[in-house]
Amino acid sequence: MSKLILPLLNVSNLNKNFEIKKIFKPIKTLKALSEVSFTLNTNETLGIVGESGCGKSTLAKVLTQLEKPSSGSIQIEGIEIPNLDPKEFHSTIQMVFQDPYQSLNPRKKAFDIIADPLRINTNKSENDIKELVLDMMKKVGLREEFKERYPHHFSGGQRQRLGIARALMLRPKILILDEPVSALDVSIQAQVLNLLLELQAEFSLSYLFITHDLSVVEHISDRILVMYLGRIVEYGPREQIFNNPKHPYTQLLLESAPKVLGGTNSKKDWNIITSEAPSALTLPKGCAFASRCNNKTPQCDLSIPELKDEGGRLVACFNAIKG
Ligand SMILES: Nc1ncnc2c1ncn2[C@@H]1O[C@H](COP(=O)(O)OP(=O)(O)O)[C@@H](O)[C@H]1O
Ligand SMILES: [Mg+2]
Repeated sequence: MSKLILPLLNVSNLNKNFEIKKIFKPIKTLKALSEVSFTLNTNETLGIVGESGCGKSTLAKVLTQLEKPSSGSIQIEGIEIPNLDPKEFHSTIQMVFQDPYQSLNPRKKAFDIIADPLRINTNKSENDIKELVLDMMKKVGLREEFKERYPHHFSGGQRQRLGIARALMLRPKILILDEPVSALDVSIQAQVLNLLLELQAEFSLSYLFITHDLSVVEHISDRILVMYLGRIVEYGPREQIFNNPKHPYTQLLLESAPKVLGGTNSKKDWNIITSEAPSALTLPKGCAFASRCNNKTPQCDLSIPELKDEGGRLVACFNAIKG
């Protein structure tokens, strides 16, 4: 009998609302995540892309239990996250943040930053911890003498290596990388991306790679999930998304990507920058992308398109691009 293989991470119908309270104003609900569902398999990289404010960091925080979901389910190998022992949880999912300056304690030396997860979550001796820390520093490309340094003595790329080392100490299966290279120069970005690829192979890691820049995930993702104002608009294999985008928003993101890399100014680049998106606080009744969309029809203002299978990838659009 064949064994049922569960995805490593299975997220279904995840919602996250923030209550916005302003003095003398009625409480408003901001829908940061709406009905987000996806899976992550062992050894896979899922790229999560979308503009600033579309809910990427909220998703990362809900998955790492820094925020509570409003509703929905998050399962690791079939077990709901709240039912996992906290130690088991930490040794399954870890996060690397965009700004290691803010996420690394400035008063701690590199050695202690990397050692702390082991001190807090295991009973290992200081001798064993020292060996493991020095070994990990080597693996992430930090020289041993850096162990006495404080985060502000490191360059941006080195600080990100430090954050990666810390995240790997408990040997997690999943790394959530929230814009891990967005604050770095392009040449340093490539070095950190290469390091992440090496570490993925060495530790059989699964990556949830969050970025606003499609070009960053083009070469490292197996699948891509595109978000717009808290919803998934397109989700599927990387080649399909890059070679043949079917959601008008994915197409716009792809067409404006060369500008991010210093390419030419086309009319589409202009479009994405100047056309106003509604905010997560004032979402329209229909498709949230309709106000910026060239394919819009009257139906788009009336109801929200569901994710539908289009030849092996999912698209949430009434007028998905043909071909
Ligand atoms: N703690 C919070 N309280 C209220 N609103 C929040 C909070 N965190 C995020 N938001 C809002 O949720 C939306 C998604 O934000 P975020 O997840 O940070 O997006 P991204 O990481 O894609 O830029 C934004 O409209 C943001 O203002
Ligand atoms: Mg963010």
